[in-house]
Amino acid sequence: MGTWWTVNGFGSGGAGGVRASYLNNNDLGFGRDMHCIQKGQDLACYVTNYGCPDQDPKNADLAAAANPADRVATVTMEYSAVEGQDPKRRIVKFFVYKGGTIDSPLITSADLDGFGDKNVPQLCLNCHGGQYSPSGKPSIDDIDMKSSFREFDLPSFRYTSGRDFTKLTPQELDTFKALNDVVVASQPSDPIKQLIAGWYAGGGSTFNDKFVPAQWIDAANPLKQQLYLGAVAQSCRTCHVAFRGGDIDWSTYSQFQRRRSIINLYVCGSSKIMPHAAITYINFWGSRSPSLPNQLAQFKASDWTAFGTCK
Ligand code: HEC
Ligand code: HEC
Repeated sequence: MGTWWTVNGFGSGGAGGVRASYLNNNDLGFGRDMHCIQKGQDLACYVTNYGCPDQDPKNADLAAAANPADRVATVTMEYSAVEGQDPKRRIVKFFVYKGGTIDSPLITSADLDGFGDKNVPQLCLNCHGGQYSPSGKPSIDDIDMKSSFREFDLPSFRYTSGRDFTKLTPQELDTFKALNDVVVASQPSDPIKQLIAGWYAGGGSTFNDKFVPAQWIDAANPLKQQLYLGAVAQSCRTCHVAFRGGDIDWSTYSQFQRRRSIINLYVCGSSKIMPHAAITYINFWGSRSPSLPNQLAQFKASDWTAFGTCK
């Protein structure tokens, strides 16, 4: 992957840009060694996964130590123009490298959850949003999948030496702010922009983990905010926030309310289709005090009859 590094402005061994390491404790369960760089208006990030997708707190330490022997795969994204096309039209691209060293080859599928290989880019779109369904030779509009760089949701991570986000140093908070600035610059979905703006509304690198979008706030019914900060933020936002179109991104209560019966069926019904990623599913069903399934089951509003049970 040496060429990918140099084309995008990193050093030939991957140095440069902004770097942070942590355990992604909500969607992937791996240790993550994240690097992002800006070159003119082009953006690029690569992230090497460490350990197994099993939420082991030590995965954060493995990622920080960055020992080549512990590397799983390296996934990358670019926000850049397509060769031979309008140089001002930047789009999001995905690449996966086996390993994460200078001679690691590009591969076309990856196993991110321990349940076998899935194809790129389809595998990436579940969480990064967008659509790829070309018929015949892909055109620029097909390749422009409208995917998003994803926000760095600090409370959902774990950090080196078993720390949670309340133990981050001011320097670490600055680093994550710089990474979230890269996400904003990549023109992600509106709900992602709104979320990052809300987290940092206090100014500087201070992160407000209690941010709730205005359209979930109802002075007459505080259960709405609770539902947002609980089940929605922790188990649903992790993918839905990247969906464009303002229909099922869950940035407003009314979108959620309109899908009440299908939510009951998909989440609490016997099929258990949602939440749709291994670790997110485990966190949702394993959550205690509060139990997120219970929170969803007991939620009620003037336009929402409680489900009663969800198990
Ligand atoms: C289960 C959800 C999920 C899947 C599947 C997924 N990602 Fe991500 N990805 C995320 C999240 C969430 C972030 C934000 C940082 C984090 O949480 O670690 C992210 C961040 C990234 C970043 C850093 C830039 C950014 O968006 O902040 C890269 C690069 C990346 N992913 C590449 C990929 C590629 C390539 C694939 C497909 C092979 C993929 N991801 C599949 C959830 C996912
Ligand atoms: C790992 C990713 C992921 C997670 C986590 C997730 N979803 Fe989804 N969800 C999807 C995808 C992908 C679709 C299909 C989107 C489409 O049809 O364009 C979807 C579709 C849905 C739909 C159908 C919407 C429609 O078209 O009417 C509902 C309802 C839904 N999700 C509810 C939820 C709820 C509630 C949660 C949290 C408890 C959740 N999802 C968590 C990925 C996810």
